[in-house]
Amino acid sequence: MHERLGRIWPPGIRLQLTLWYTSIFVGLLLLTGIVLYVRLQTKLIETYDEPLKVRTEQLIADITNDDGMIDPQDIAQEVSLLEQETLRNNDRKADVNFDALVRILNTKGQALVITPAFHELQVPTLSVMQPLHGDPWQGTVPTADGYQVRLYSTRLMSKSTLFGVIQVGQSLTPLNTSLQKVVEELLLIAPFAVMLGIIGSHWLATRAFVPIYHLTSIAEEISAGDLQRRVPVPEPKDEVQQLALTFNKMIGQLDQAFMQQRRFVADASHELRTPVAAIRSMTDVALAQSLTAEECIAVVGNVNAVAERLGWLIRDLLLLARSDEGQVPLDYELVRLDRLVSDVVATLEPLAVERGIVLQVLTLEPATVRGDISRLIQCVINLLDNALTYTNAGGRVALRVEMRERCGCIVVQDTGIGIAPEDRLHIFERFYRADSVPTRKAGGSGLGLAIVEWVTRAHWGSIQVESQVGQGSTFTLSFPLAQDY
Ligand SMILES: Nc1ncnc2c1ncn2[C@@H]1O[C@H](COP(=O)(O)OP(=O)(O)OP(=O)(O)O)[C@@H](O)[C@H]1O
Ligand SMILES: [Mg+2]
Repeated sequence: MHERLGRIWPPGIRLQLTLWYTSIFVGLLLLTGIVLYVRLQTKLIETYDEPLKVRTEQLIADITNDDGMIDPQDIAQEVSLLEQETLRNNDRKADVNFDALVRILNTKGQALVITPAFHELQVPTLSVMQPLHGDPWQGTVPTADGYQVRLYSTRLMSKSTLFGVIQVGQSLTPLNTSLQKVVEELLLIAPFAVMLGIIGSHWLATRAFVPIYHLTSIAEEISAGDLQRRVPVPEPKDEVQQLALTFNKMIGQLDQAFMQQRRFVADASHELRTPVAAIRSMTDVALAQSLTAEECIAVVGNVNAVAERLGWLIRDLLLLARSDEGQVPLDYELVRLDRLVSDVVATLEPLAVERGIVLQVLTLEPATVRGDISRLIQCVINLLDNALTYTNAGGRVALRVEMRERCGCIVVQDTGIGIAPEDRLHIFERFYRADSVPTRKAGGSGLGLAIVEWVTRAHWGSIQVESQVGQGSTFTLSFPLAQDY
C-alpha cells in the first residue's frame, strides 16, 4: 500500500497537470452552476411581480367606489369573498401555498383586514413604512415553515387622502420546486461531467508530453560513445524546442570535453613515450658495449637528466589533470607580488647569466593580492623560463610589478624570437609548441603556459600577450588587488 502510494506521490508533472485541469474544470462548472441558478431564480421571481401588481390593482378597484372613496363595507365584503374562496375546507389549516395572502392596514399600521394564511408570513416593517411614504414595496418574505412568498405592498388612497396599505402575496413554492428539480438533474449529470473532465484532462496532459517522451527516448539512446548524435529540434518555438536546443548544446559541450580529454591522454602518452624511449636507447647502447667507468658515469648522468625532465612532465601532467577535476587545493593568503617576483628573479638570475641574457627588474610596486603563493611562483617561473628560453644570448628580459586599475600586474618582457599571430591563439593549449621556433627548447612539453592560464583563472586574473616575430614578447598577468590590504 505504502509502496503504491510512493509511486504516485509526490505526483509527476502529468498527474499534477491532470489534477489542475480537473480542479479548474470542476471549479468552473460549479461557478457557472451557481451563477446560473442565482440569476435564473432572480429572473423567474421577477416574473411574479407584474401579475401580483395587476392583482393588487384589481383588489383596489374592487374596494373603491365610483367616486374614488374606499368603503370599509366593500373591504369586509371582498375579504369574506376571499376567505370563502380560500377556506372552502373549514377544518384545514391556512396554507400559504394555496390560500389568499392579503392584508390591509390603516395609516397607523394596524391591520384592518388579514387573510388567515397571511399570519404565517414574516413581513418586514419596511413593507408597510415605504408605501406609507409613497413608494410601493416588493420583496420575498419567508414563512415560519420555511416557504417563500413574493409580496407586493402599495398605498391605498381614498380619493386624495391616504387610507392605508394593501399587501398581496403569492407563494414561490412552485418556482422553488421547479428550481430544485433542475438542481437535482444537474447533480445527477455532474459526476459524468467530472468523469469526462478527468478523462479529457488526462488526455490533454498526455498529449502535451508526447514531444517530451519522444525527446527522452532519443536522449536515452545517446550514450557516451556517440556524442556526435543530436536530438531533433521541433519546429514550433516553444519550451520543447528550447529543451532540445539546450540538450544539444550540452551534448556538444560534453563531446568537446571528451575530445579534449582523449587528446590530452593521447598527447600525454606521446610526450611520456619520448623520454622513456631516450632512456631505453641510452641504456641499450650502454648494455651492448663494455663501457669504461667514465663512460658509464656519462650515460648515468644523461639518464638522470632525462628522468628529471620526465619527473617534471609527470608533475605538470598530474597538476593539470587534477585541476580539471577541481582537486587541486589552493591555499589563499595575502601575497606581495613585488616580493614574489624579486625572489623568483634571484633564483633564475644564474640561468640568465649562463645563457648570456640580461635579466632586469624595472618597477616593483607594492601590490598585494589574494592567492596561493606556490602556484603564483610557479606561474612567474614558467613565464620567466619561457622568456629565457626563447631569447637568444645577448637579449634582454625585463620584469615589472605595477598597479593598474585596482589590479596588480606582473609584466614579463623579452627581446626574444617572438610568437607568430597564428601561434598566439594556441600557445595556452596543452602540449602546444610553435613549430616555427628555430631554437626549440629540448624537452619543452608545451604545458608551461597551460599551467599559467589555469593558475591565473583560479586567481580571478587575466593574461595578455603582445608579440612581434623577431622583436620579442610581453606577457602581462593581472590579478585583482586584495581589498583588505
Ligand atoms: N616568451 C616567448 N617567446 C616566444 N615564444 C614563446 C614564449 N613563450 C611561449 N612561447 C611559445 O609558446 C609555446 C608554449 O609555451 P609553453 O611554456 O606552454 O611550453 P614550452 O615552453 O614549450 O614547454 P614547457 O612545458 O617546458 O614550458 C612554446 O613552445 C613557444 O613556442
Ligand atoms: Mg615553457
